[in-house]
Amino acid sequence: MSIEQMLTYAKQHFPALIQPRSLDSHKGSFGSIGIIGGAQGMTGAALLSARAALYQGAGRIYIGFAQPSLPFAVDFNYPELMLRTASDILNLNHITAWVIGCGLGVDNHSLEILEKTLTLHPSIPKVVDADALNLIAKNNIDLPHEEGDIVITPHPLEASRLLNLSAIDIQNNREATAKALATKFNAWVVLKGYQSVICSPNGVTTLNNSGNPSLATGGTGDVLAGMIGALIAQGIPIEQAVRGGVWLHGASADYCSQHFTQGQIGLTASEVALHARTIRNL
Ligand code: APR
Ligand code: MG
Repeated sequence: MSIEQMLTYAKQHFPALIQPRSLDSHKGSFGSIGIIGGAQGMTGAALLSARAALYQGAGRIYIGFAQPSLPFAVDFNYPELMLRTASDILNLNHITAWVIGCGLGVDNHSLEILEKTLTLHPSIPKVVDADALNLIAKNNIDLPHEEGDIVITPHPLEASRLLNLSAIDIQNNREATAKALATKFNAWVVLKGYQSVICSPNGVTTLNNSGNPSLATGGTGDVLAGMIGALIAQGIPIEQAVRGGVWLHGASADYCSQHFTQGQIGLTASEVALHARTIRNL
């Protein structure tokens, strides 16, 4: 899609994504996101997710690292981010969306953090990704939620662990898999990969039509989780936040392939996070 076609497409399908801000808005109007992940050795996963949330215009962005103490006091490239430990941010009561899982790890400490996040804030929407999904599969954790939407964003291997099927079975039945996960967890599902399948909790699936193989690089999934979380945190209706967030992520990669990399090799997850901003401001 050309940039003009992207604008037309966004106007038609995801108008909330490109709505101008009201003149009297302030940072409180755009919510606060809490990103929990980034265990030792995977600090960057949480940073990427937070970077994506920043470029999506969330009002305040907190990272809660799954580490006993902070890996550093500030991200000098992105000093806007508030860096804390997971146990610290779990006490915050003004968070409007949580993202949990990017580089979370799968040890007992990570499990404890996941369980606390799920139980302490039942009415707050959550994006559940990566190691949070691996922990859920490994420990047979349920995702009970009477209020507060849940979005799960597995890649095929994570989906295979959640359903106890092979990744080949998953890839041969992508829509059925997304539906099965939506039913199992009563959640929004993004089954990632070429033409990501998005399924609502009541089983309505769509296929995403943006994105390209430049996204097949480490960290782009962390960026997607941060983007969807930030859209939810700032009050974009859930369906547009999920289906629109996935589209925007792919559209950013398409835009980068056309304008910067001039191809599909060497795109970075950080660039995907940054240039999604351009599309929302079209
Ligand atoms: N076409 C379109 N989109 C693609 C393509 C493709 N060919 N390949 C990948 N993508 C998109 C996916 O749809 C998804 O949005 O790129 C993103 C990749 O997400 P992940 O698979 O989660 O990759 P990553 O960010 O590296 O994951 C980081 O978390 O999930 C764990 O095991 C994973 O350790 C890894 C970490
Ligand atoms: Mg991932």
